[in-house]
Amino acid sequence: MLKQFLRRQAQSFAYRLLLRNLPKPYEHVGGYCWRSRLPRSLPKADSTLLLFEDRRYLGPANSRRKHVESIGRGWYRHDDEVIYFSTPDNTDPNTNRREYSYSVSSWLHTRNSGVANNLLHREVTDSAIASDVEYALAGSKYRNVCHEFGIHDLVDKSILELGPGPSCAWALLMACYGASVSVVDPYPATWDASYHPVFLSAFRNAVADLPGTDVSPISDLLEEQDFSEHVICRHEEPVELLEMDGESFDIVFSNAVGEHFFDCTAAFKQLHRVTKTGGWGFHWIDFRDHRDFQTPLEYLSMSDAEFAREFGLRRGEIGNRWRANEMSAVIEQAGFEVVRREPTIQAESTYLEAFIPRLRASGSSRYRDIPAAELQRLGELVVLRKH
Ligand SMILES: C[S@@+](CC[C@H](N)C(=O)[O-])C[C@H]1O[C@@H](n2cnc3c(N)ncnc32)[C@H](O)[C@@H]1O
Repeated sequence: MLKQFLRRQAQSFAYRLLLRNLPKPYEHVGGYCWRSRLPRSLPKADSTLLLFEDRRYLGPANSRRKHVESIGRGWYRHDDEVIYFSTPDNTDPNTNRREYSYSVSSWLHTRNSGVANNLLHREVTDSAIASDVEYALAGSKYRNVCHEFGIHDLVDKSILELGPGPSCAWALLMACYGASVSVVDPYPATWDASYHPVFLSAFRNAVADLPGTDVSPISDLLEEQDFSEHVICRHEEPVELLEMDGESFDIVFSNAVGEHFFDCTAAFKQLHRVTKTGGWGFHWIDFRDHRDFQTPLEYLSMSDAEFAREFGLRRGEIGNRWRANEMSAVIEQAGFEVVRREPTIQAESTYLEAFIPRLRASGSSRYRDIPAAELQRLGELVVLRKH
């Protein structure tokens, strides 16, 4: 108790010392983007400028300006003395009664930051690498599900993976089975010279033992010491704003990404557009409140306004709280046939019994009256087909 109190006091003192008010006026630039002019003495764009709303971090930092405008949700960028920013719930910063501040403290930056998960520094110990390789090999589930649906050969199949994570390992594994692979992520990992060579060497050894693989895509990356475009074609954008040509992909995969879409309707429309006629989609979606998997439905009690702010402040990592049936309905509206919905995670009955009365009592939640049966399903593999 005392420890917590002292920690809060110390944090409050540090913030008072390190945070500066973001200078007004906040001029509207376009869409959800606002502009503030900072003192000329500040470091340049690639610095560690952090932006806060009521002392909570916004981000991701260093976003593309067009994404700040079209997505908002707290994304921002810093170009010399100008900061282009958005608010987490896309409200007007001039009138939403919140305080905006910034800091260029590298100490604060190392403690948290507006950096996207994919860009965080990764551990290079033997055990961390072994566990990353084990996780990477779990990407075999992409190939296994293809087999189940009669796609026995991935050679020359054109595959898109959404949100591939920090090393694109599952996409790379598909390339080792002969597929031509693209990935899309608004925050693609950058090559980390202290991590990727070690991880990829270990991954290559493990993939070499799998029948039917050719590890040359991994060797190519190791040789070039970069995410080479001829091995994996990387698109730096969210699914909702895909710019690639229509009818491009035989198969689209994702794992733990659909729950982070900020606009599911737009995302599945785009996926329908870029999938070839006759093409497939395999999406593992986790419908839990990502703040705490032990209490996986808590976010359903929030009002839309509360949730929109929380979603933005947590950079979408909380999960978009769409329920499995809602997601399935937009997938069909986008034009896909939903071929199969397979449950992967179910809620515990003791948790549901305690949660449902609280949900029913939450006056302002859009989910207040959702049927209990729909709350049970917390994770799903959704299989789609474009006809
Ligand atoms: C929880 S991680 C999953 C990473 C990896 N697929 C895995 O299973 O380990 C979510 C990934 O989705 C990406 N992401 C979030 N929103 C996205 C969007 N709108 N479009 C594409 N990717 C997105 C994130 O940057 C991140 O790489």
